[in-house]
Amino acid sequence: MKTLGEILKLSTSFLEEKKIDRPRFSAEILLAHALKMKRVELYMQFDRPLIDSEVAPFREFIRRRASGEPIEYVLGTIDFYGCAIEVDSRVLIPRQETEILADHIVKRLKGKALWDVCTGSGCLGISLKKTEPSLDVTLSDISKEALDLARKNGARNGVELKYLLGDLLEPFKGLSADIIVCNPPYISQSEYLNLDPSVSRFEPKLALVGGERGTEVYERLAAVLPGHLNPGGLVFLEIGAGQGVDVKKIFSEGPWAQKELLADWAGKDRFFFLEKQSNSRVS
Ligand SMILES: C[S@@+](CC[C@H](N)C(=O)[O-])C[C@H]1O[C@@H](n2cnc3c(N)ncnc32)[C@H](O)[C@@H]1O
Repeated sequence: MKTLGEILKLSTSFLEEKKIDRPRFSAEILLAHALKMKRVELYMQFDRPLIDSEVAPFREFIRRRASGEPIEYVLGTIDFYGCAIEVDSRVLIPRQETEILADHIVKRLKGKALWDVCTGSGCLGISLKKTEPSLDVTLSDISKEALDLARKNGARNGVELKYLLGDLLEPFKGLSADIIVCNPPYISQSEYLNLDPSVSRFEPKLALVGGERGTEVYERLAAVLPGHLNPGGLVFLEIGAGQGVDVKKIFSEGPWAQKELLADWAGKDRFFFLEKQSNSRVS
């Protein structure tokens, strides 16, 4: 029977051999997860012998991580803006930048009807509903598999939401919102080919690639968003680093009272905010 410390050492070396990023950190996080304890608690139990039934799930976690699978999928849940969000290969792993987008949205919230289009795991719509329970939130995605997981995440977080399956705003025919939030796929075909394999081998292509140039979804949204926004309605988009100029150009026409690129913590333009004129109709 090996001790916790010995198992950690062995699994760290194994991950190192497999060229996995931050092998010791991965091993500690996964062992703590297998033993249902906090990572710091491991440090006080290095000499504890581990029985087979404790080691078996950990061995499986290490096998998956060693194959390059992102640690978030192996753990199965991430914390997003204070919400526990389940993730698996059906959805993109929510990124930290998207929490910054949530922050920008929370600061500017107005109105009641909020749509999270391209919702994936549901992280944005669910966390916004939890932050502001008076919102009437609808989540939509073109992937049934993703929407199933979003629904599960909504239930897990105890929030009541609506769920619509379909292409961009098509499922919202005849409806209008006060706030539309969207983190669409925005990587170009050529960028996709050069992506780190830890992303392209495991995360859904549908969640990543936004057409040949990467900006196709913004072009499609620019044409349909005005018709689905109430007067004074707000739009929040996540954009790729370096897409600010192109996205601004795409939205150069339309009934917009305000347009603003918003930055991430590093000061890079990563989000685009639009406010519809308050005197324009929904049409
Ligand atoms: C970048 S992921 C965003 C997921 C989540 N909102 C987040 O911030 O982590 C994009 C999502 O858009 C969905 N999607 C791709 N094309 C779409 C389309 N034409 N209409 C609706 N959803 C689409 C994908 O299935 C994926 O779940």
